[in-house]
Amino acid sequence: MILAAGLASCRKAPLVSCDAAQPLFAVYPFPVGVAINPAELSPSSEYQRLATQHFNSVTPENIFKPSYLHPEAGQYDWADADQLAAFCRAHNQRLHGHTLIWHQQLPGWMANFTGSPAAWEAMFRDHIQTICRHFQGQVSSWDVVNEAFAADGTLRSTIWSQHLGSSYLEKAFRYAHNADPDALLFYNDYDLESNPVKRRAVLAWLQTMQLRGVPVQGLGLQMHISIVSPENTQLAEALRDAQQTGLKLHLSEIDVAINPLGQAITPTPELLQRQADKLAFLVRTYRELPRAQQFGITFWGLSDGNTWQRSYYHRDDYPLLFDDNYQPKPAFCLLAHPR
Ligand code: XIL
Repeated sequence: MILAAGLASCRKAPLVSCDAAQPLFAVYPFPVGVAINPAELSPSSEYQRLATQHFNSVTPENIFKPSYLHPEAGQYDWADADQLAAFCRAHNQRLHGHTLIWHQQLPGWMANFTGSPAAWEAMFRDHIQTICRHFQGQVSSWDVVNEAFAADGTLRSTIWSQHLGSSYLEKAFRYAHNADPDALLFYNDYDLESNPVKRRAVLAWLQTMQLRGVPVQGLGLQMHISIVSPENTQLAEALRDAQQTGLKLHLSEIDVAINPLGQAITPTPELLQRQADKLAFLVRTYRELPRAQQFGITFWGLSDGNTWQRSYYHRDDYPLLFDDNYQPKPAFCLLAHPR
């Protein structure tokens, strides 16, 4: 019995060791960020200790989304967000706002909004500008629009495209810039590294925006990847293509799944090493970009116990830098001590 229990816990958390004293962000010339869920932040927690020791940029994982900040028409709920902003200030962390316009995590009133085209436009503009003004000087940057393109490269059909037409994208950036001219404004999306059709469509759209003088300064590539896909060559090609825009590039939501097919698995040393190697390749490739285009890299959660993948995809996975017990994994060690 004792042996079995020992094996089970050993499977959950294979021990690795590396010197984790030096902040991870100190290893890199660009900010290294983490998506934070403030419910986990408490002064004596390992979560807070690691989040402040190793990361100098923060993206709120959920609490800056419309359903949290704007729960009722004309009513904004700033309390949690302001507290997180104060936390970041106290710990010298950059705060990246995520996200103003998306088709998910909308409050019910917004998803079911009815009104004339002018009423839609006013609602859309007020939402963007009230939030941007509130956080002016506190956030460095915003994901203004998230996930607006479909897998086939067409514009995704959302409440925004349906009621405002395809120009909503451009308008979102203009409204945000108008409300907070100092914030860097990003377009953020997923699968850009593995789906060249979608990537080409997003890059072509960005080029049009640049030619039209729309205030877009950056592209966020989410990078929810896995040890099996995409291949390293695809990752390198995606970053090369994205570099051509001249925009700031944010690897904005990195996690590296080791169980993309949702099988019954254990995080073996071999799987965790493959994860470390994949991530090291990605970060090495990113590091070779021109410094002016390196907005930074952000991990989508701190430890495996906090990953969205387990609840969202209903599968066991271990995609982050720290394990369920907040111990550094091989991926952390390789990033902290690049070869
Ligand atoms: C996810 C959060 O991590 C989950 O906690 C939440 O339940 C759903 O949203 N792309 C994004 C992020 O841009 O906002 C998503 O975050 C993950 C996918």
